[in-house]
Amino acid sequence: MADEKRRVLVGVGGGIAAYKVCEVVSTLAKSGIAVRVMVTEAAQQFVTPLTFATLSRDRAYTNQDFWQPEHGRPLHIDLGEWAEVFLMAPLTANTLAKLAWGAADNLLTNTVLASTCPILLAPAMNTDMWEQRVVQRNWQQVQSDPRYHSINPGEGLLACDRVGQGRMAEPAEILAHLHSLLYTGGRQDLAGKRLLISAGGTREHLDPVRFIGNPATGKMGLALAQAAVHRGAIVTLVQAAGGSIAGGEARSASSTPSNLHTISVVDAEAMRQAMVKHLPSHDWVVMAAAVGDVKPAHYSPEKLPKQAIPASLPLEPVPDIVAELGQLKHPHQRLIGFAAQTGEIVAPAWEKLQRKGLDAIVANPIDQPDSGFGSDQNQAVLLNAQGQRQDVPRCSKLELAHQILDFVQSNFG
Ligand code: C5P
Repeated sequence: MADEKRRVLVGVGGGIAAYKVCEVVSTLAKSGIAVRVMVTEAAQQFVTPLTFATLSRDRAYTNQDFWQPEHGRPLHIDLGEWAEVFLMAPLTANTLAKLAWGAADNLLTNTVLASTCPILLAPAMNTDMWEQRVVQRNWQQVQSDPRYHSINPGEGLLACDRVGQGRMAEPAEILAHLHSLLYTGGRQDLAGKRLLISAGGTREHLDPVRFIGNPATGKMGLALAQAAVHRGAIVTLVQAAGGSIAGGEARSASSTPSNLHTISVVDAEAMRQAMVKHLPSHDWVVMAAAVGDVKPAHYSPEKLPKQAIPASLPLEPVPDIVAELGQLKHPHQRLIGFAAQTGEIVAPAWEKLQRKGLDAIVANPIDQPDSGFGSDQNQAVLLNAQGQRQDVPRCSKLELAHQILDFVQSNFG
């Protein structure tokens, strides 16, 4: 049934980044979300309404439709009430100025004032335009309104051949933020909280090219970091080498926040040092990283010739980071671990929670289809030290991340 679908309204502004919004609209529609698109006059210079109508499987609205009632009611009222989440991308300097003033002189800006849902703003413009004091002032102004959620433009080569800030965020980042807003309704319940999150798989090198590692990609840790930032938290993400795929996304997410700081590490000892150093300044610590258990006893700074690799490799244990954090943490801090398991997942996770001094643990199977390492989806059983249990059926890693944050928030605030 069409009305059971989640509903995203998209307002496309006049900038070349409008071409990236096509992918956002297409991905949303393909994932079963109802999408309606408004295309400003200027946006139509870049992408036609027909493109958005085709991708959204609905009609696309232009300013000419403003005076045509929809379902017998003024269009801006109808669209405004329909939307659960409203995306404005690319947000131009002109429309930003109108938002800051509360001006309403076209279908798009009238719909903003006729709606109450959260609005996600993804600006894009030339670096000099973005850096104008008046533009920055307008940007600060809209951010003081809790209705607006924002994705800062990233840095890079712009279509005007300038290198600087002004690139619209990538579609994957916009989509993640939209999904968070659909999940939370825009609540900023982690505002003021500081989270320290580890992600990816550690690598223990034998020489500069060979290492002992694991298949972790860092997607779960990145999803936790994104979900937390979208809910207002300040996040330090300690990203292990094995998370380089998701790490790339995390770096493009550097556009987002001043609220997301990424630290890259390779092995368990470097991760241990980063986690111990940053522990005192954080409220919640989530060890989502797949940390190896052993490392080669000897490291060669030169690449070993094949013949020099011993048939049996002497190994040493690496530090158990989360157990050490469990010893170091203060009573007001919360420590959440992960237990990736094959076979029975709950009993080993419960044993780890107790042995490592955790407040909660996420037990996730790695022998099920479409979940665990590398997948965009996951499933888990959440346990806390009080013995409470919550089962999360397979869902996107971002949704699992929100459910983990809810679980911790409801148990420990
Ligand atoms: O590998 P294992 O299943 O024991 O991991 C359980 C938890 O312990 C995870 O949160 C993982 O990040 C953490 N861990 C760690 N240091 C290790 C091994 C695991 O912090 N050396």
